[in-house]
Amino acid sequence: MTVLDDNELERVPRHVAIIMDGNGRWAKARGLPRLAGHRAGTENLKPIIEACVEFGIEILTIWAFSTENWRRPETEVKGLLRILQKMIRRELRELHKQGVRLRHLGYLDHLPERLQKQVCEAVELTRNNERLILNVAFDYGGRAEIVDAVRRIITDGVPPGEVDEALLSSYMYTAGQPDPDLIIRTSGEMRTSGFMLWQSAYAEYYVTPTFWPDFDREELHAALIAYKQRDRRFGGLKDDCGSPPDLKAGAGDGRARPARGPEVPNADPHA
Ligand code: FPP
Repeated sequence: MTVLDDNELERVPRHVAIIMDGNGRWAKARGLPRLAGHRAGTENLKPIIEACVEFGIEILTIWAFSTENWRRPETEVKGLLRILQKMIRRELRELHKQGVRLRHLGYLDHLPERLQKQVCEAVELTRNNERLILNVAFDYGGRAEIVDAVRRIITDGVPPGEVDEALLSSYMYTAGQPDPDLIIRTSGEMRTSGFMLWQSAYAEYYVTPTFWPDFDREELHAALIAYKQRDRRFGGLKDDCGSPPDLKAGAGDGRARPARGPEVPNADPHA
């Protein structure tokens, strides 16, 4: 079993977000229907959540259904809705017992009414838990989130002069949370697909060819080690890490990120 030693624990990301990709290809490789891949992907959540708690990660965001996924065949869409329903029904008590706080990112109102109610109840039941925040992005799109935020800012009558980055952050689904430090994408695709478009400005990316159902704690550990070796400058310089505090802080919570890390030369001036 992999355990992070003290040195490794020094720079554990506070917020890890995962694009859980490759369920379909995992299933195809085994001659199984796509939904079998989604079910295997769901089974994989439990050990990964446990590993996050153990490694000291504070927030885990998982992308389970995009605003574009409605275009998939009806059987697959219905299957994914059923998976969410089952997950809440079967796992909620255990997650609550483990101190996991559930949050939903995305549209609620396109989901069947009963499912909307279940999601709201799960969020309400776990609202005071502090061990790990689990953001489930379901019917989520990064552009849609920004459009949503702008609409609400206008509806709230905010004067243009008061619109700044902190205000925008406070209108995102992740309001009050630090931005993701590390975004993992499984199955090797080199694109963001608009995941956490606003919040990912300074996130580190880790892409692995492993399909999501096979992504295990060893792979998570490898991602954390890779993250630790990155040189995060938030647009500033290496010596003073001199970025303005509003950029370095988790946009949502105003808390500065730790400016620790190895002095590794980095050739990318935009990093
Ligand atoms: C992408 O793989 C994955 C999804 C669209 C669904 C992810 C959902 C789960 C892992 C189940 C967890 C569900 C909940 C409700 C928490 P893909 O189907 O696009 O794979 P492919 O690119 O190989 O076809």
